[in-house]
Amino acid sequence: MIYTKILGTGSYLPEKILTNFELEKMVDTTNEWIVERTGIHERRIAASNETAATMAEQAAKQAMLAAGISARDLDMIIVATTTPEKVFPSTACLLQQRFGIANCAAFDLNSAACSGFIYGLSIADQFIRNGNAKHILLIGSEVMSSIVDWTDRTTCILFGDGAGAVVLGPSDAPGVICTRLHADGNHKDILSLSSQEKNAKPCIKMAGNSVFKLAVNMLGDLFDETLAAAHLKKSDIHWLVPHQANIRIIQSMAKKLELPMERVTITLDKQGNTSSASIPLALDQAVRTRQIKRGEILMLEAFGGGLAWGSALLKF
Ligand code: ACO
Repeated sequence: MIYTKILGTGSYLPEKILTNFELEKMVDTTNEWIVERTGIHERRIAASNETAATMAEQAAKQAMLAAGISARDLDMIIVATTTPEKVFPSTACLLQQRFGIANCAAFDLNSAACSGFIYGLSIADQFIRNGNAKHILLIGSEVMSSIVDWTDRTTCILFGDGAGAVVLGPSDAPGVICTRLHADGNHKDILSLSSQEKNAKPCIKMAGNSVFKLAVNMLGDLFDETLAAAHLKKSDIHWLVPHQANIRIIQSMAKKLELPMERVTITLDKQGNTSSASIPLALDQAVRTRQIKRGEILMLEAFGGGLAWGSALLKF
């Protein structure tokens, strides 16, 4: 039996830091409100010459180095992003050109928003398990600052830019144990990329409180479903690697899994919500600081626009 293993991780963050105190000068908000309601202190903002493709390239190079492979060894590149440099060519094809390769499949996953990395992991897992791909580069890369309305205090305080990557490959032992994907378009109006007026630049619109309540309920049910599918118990999980949207959602998920916060990867204090990049960014940070170790069981979960949500349970 073939399983999918994470062979290496990598990440990239832009240099520019935007603090809550700087946001106080831009919109009617306070550092206290942002920290108390979200857990975010600062976020990174891409420079004008940085795009989803340039950040993805940096994260991917690290992940391939960690995995001990080169771009020529790749069978597939998947980039999860809602903020591509261009709709087409895809960010994944732009990466092929940057790496000087042509012999692999390459596509973007644009539509699963914050759950893009989990959706990508589930797709990659199918290709590796059935023997149709050996090495897959999966990246989440986002320039959220480009789709934020910087006059809207309810959303502009939340998001940040960055990229995280993993190289996935085959193994005769788990690996990815199971993934679960969900979506419900009936909630399409509470979180979207929309134009306020005709021809205006589309920006994130969100009924934050409604999204918050749905996230807590849906993710709680998702954990039960994922553990049942994997025939595992809460006590088998070593780490929760959650999408970094709000510290209160994450605390509630840790409680649901009966995990202390020391067993939860947290990056949103320094990075904000980087959408599809947040899970691979958090994973890479925890791997590089030797918090997460080989053989440990990880629960990954994400929730975002669509609504779309999903989980992955894996042995690192
Ligand atoms: N500074 C100060 N006050 C603010 C701010 C701000 N930045 N933003 C909102 N407020 C005010 C509101 O106007 C409201 O005031 P009112 O009571 O006078 O009307 C009050 O604060 C409370 O607003 P709520 O929206 O109820 O605040 P809440 O506690 O829900 O926090 C937040 C808002 C942080 C957005 C939270 O709801 C949240 O994190 N939601 C989930 C977001 C999420 O998970 N999104 C999914 C991923 S994103 C994606 O897919 C692209």
